[in-house]
Amino acid sequence: MGRILTIANQKGGVGKTTTAVNLAASLAAAERRTLLVDIDPQGNAGSALGVTRDEVEGASLYEVLLEGRPVAEVIRKTELKFLDLVPSSRHLVGAELELAGEERRDHRLKKALDAVAGDYEYLIVDCPPSLGLLTLNGLVAAHGVLIPLQCEYYALEGLADVLRTIDLVREGANPRLAVEGIVLTMHAANNLAAQVTEEVRTHFKKEVFQTVIPRNVRLSESPSHGKPVLLYDVASKGCQSYLALARELVKRAGKVGRAA
Ligand SMILES: Nc1ncnc2c1ncn2[C@@H]1O[C@H](COP(=O)(O)OP(=O)(O)O)[C@@H](O)[C@H]1O
Ligand SMILES: [Mg+2]
Repeated sequence: MGRILTIANQKGGVGKTTTAVNLAASLAAAERRTLLVDIDPQGNAGSALGVTRDEVEGASLYEVLLEGRPVAEVIRKTELKFLDLVPSSRHLVGAELELAGEERRDHRLKKALDAVAGDYEYLIVDCPPSLGLLTLNGLVAAHGVLIPLQCEYYALEGLADVLRTIDLVREGANPRLAVEGIVLTMHAANNLAAQVTEEVRTHFKKEVFQTVIPRNVRLSESPSHGKPVLLYDVASKGCQSYLALARELVKRAGKVGRAA
């Protein structure tokens, strides 16, 4: 049974998708069978792997969550042998409304992923920038949550909301949910970043990954080539930092976390 890890933070632009795509690719490069699951209607994770929205019309996560189609039917191969993708769809924008009133509407993703979790070692879920029903599905399905945190002044404010939501999910629908770790992203070489890093480490101690993701232009360029950074510039600092994050994640699996 693979480990389902959801990448969540209701703030946009903090590095969720960059982390989901490049962590998943790094795990795959280490020959860990990995499934990247894009639950953001914007579909950025898919397009970062070169999959266009038009291409997946009719065979996406929408059909799985809303129409009960088996997830195995929408899984796509990628350029990396050990990495598969469940693409999102713009139709997911309406999921919140369409699922209103449906029974167990927050368990749809869990049901879908549990059916294929045996085929993978890691299932990485990329969330939209909100704490709505889609992210809730991501949290209910997960064993652990990774929270990317941009190294800037307001970063900590949003963090309290994510942690509160995680606590609520753990008390209710998903008691196994652990905080897998906080990932510091877009770290620039300046005093503010150093200050934020120190503050986060003081507060959250071992929950913060040792690996810090630097601000690196290769990470922002690679999606426009439809490739994870390791197929674009493997020597870049951005690529090397995500490879290090993957190694740290594999090593610390099960050792850290707040949940039972
Ligand atoms: N470490 C980084 N260095 C440089 N640019 C980054 C880095 N991480 C993310 N970006 C860029 O910042 C923007 C937002 O990142 P993204 O991963 O899409 O955030 P989110 O999914 O949280 O909205 C994107 O344009 C992305 O390419
Ligand atoms: Mg995103």
